[in-house]
Amino acid sequence: MKALVLAGGTGSRLWPLTHTTAKQLVPVGGQPVLFYGIQAIVEAGITDIGVVIGSTGDGIRAALGDGSRFGARVTYLRQERPLGLAHAVRVARAWLGDDDFVMYLGDNFVIGGISDVVRAFRAERPDAGILVTRVPDPSLFGVVELDEAGRVVRLEEKPDCPRSDLALVGVYLFTSAIHEAVAACTPSARGELEITDAVQWLVDHGRTVGATTITGYWKDTGNVADMLEVNRCVLEGLSPEIAGSVDAASEVVGRVRIEKGARVERSRIVGPAVIGADTVIRDSYIGPSTSIDANCAVYGSEVMFSIVLRDSRIEHAGRVESSLIGRSVRIVGTVRTPHAHRLVLGDHSRIEVAV
Ligand code: G1P
Repeated sequence: MKALVLAGGTGSRLWPLTHTTAKQLVPVGGQPVLFYGIQAIVEAGITDIGVVIGSTGDGIRAALGDGSRFGARVTYLRQERPLGLAHAVRVARAWLGDDDFVMYLGDNFVIGGISDVVRAFRAERPDAGILVTRVPDPSLFGVVELDEAGRVVRLEEKPDCPRSDLALVGVYLFTSAIHEAVAACTPSARGELEITDAVQWLVDHGRTVGATTITGYWKDTGNVADMLEVNRCVLEGLSPEIAGSVDAASEVVGRVRIEKGARVERSRIVGPAVIGADTVIRDSYIGPSTSIDANCAVYGSEVMFSIVLRDSRIEHAGRVESSLIGRSVRIVGTVRTPHAHRLVLGDHSRIEVAV
């Protein structure tokens, strides 16, 4: 069995971060979200991994390399334009051959991994297997309708009027039957070849499509609120470790990881939280569910329920909450007349200022 990991896409819901970084590489709980997917695939016993990349491919290649650090062998497959998930399967057709494969969307996160569903698929071997989960707003997803016996009746991509609250999780199990279905796909209203339509084609042609409802937490990490939520969730399972230094005037409470070279001075850290390598926290409060990446500085500020990427500085900025802050960002509080905000923001930035 092989795995096909989709790591293309423009990541428009995460602009401006994704102007410079692939959305799958935004770190949560201290490592890119994509790594959790790769680790879950390897844990399920699959080591032959095809990674579909697009315009952000260089960053993905640099992060995953040949896959050996994950115990896998990675092959890169180039999708020239983001024309949909079914299109990605077409791109990978020759590499996949007639093998069974798990398709994993690189911005998805499944707590507890996928070993159980892969094992069940191998044992029962339907033509395809999908995972579904109940969500509050199904219209943002592929939506699945099941009959009383739990059989898949209908799938619809982001419908205005969803027929159920079961969303398609971005993990699919396929036999080679999917290739005929994908070949039959035509572009959807959003101009993409939808994998949802390909699975519907299998249902319509009498193929067996198994649906497993997962209760384990998962998120499509395509937007900021979800990124923060996944970060919170990953940090719940953090093993505490203090490799950096904490001075006598500081206090560390709960599950906190302070990486090598990091310094905590006259500050209070309440976990779960990660303080990255060589980061300095001084005269500050770091609250729960916060990941601060390497080489950052937080001085005289409070940061909670947030992700801060590397090389950023937050100085005398008051309280920063529910925020996703990119690399090499500077947030500096000043006392000046007139009392005004002075901003240098990249395209598609969003800020909320407390007034
Ligand atoms: C894709 C699929 C959708 C699925 C979702 C899960 O949507 O088209 O059916 O529910 O992934 O992450 P996209 O994120 O490409 O809009």
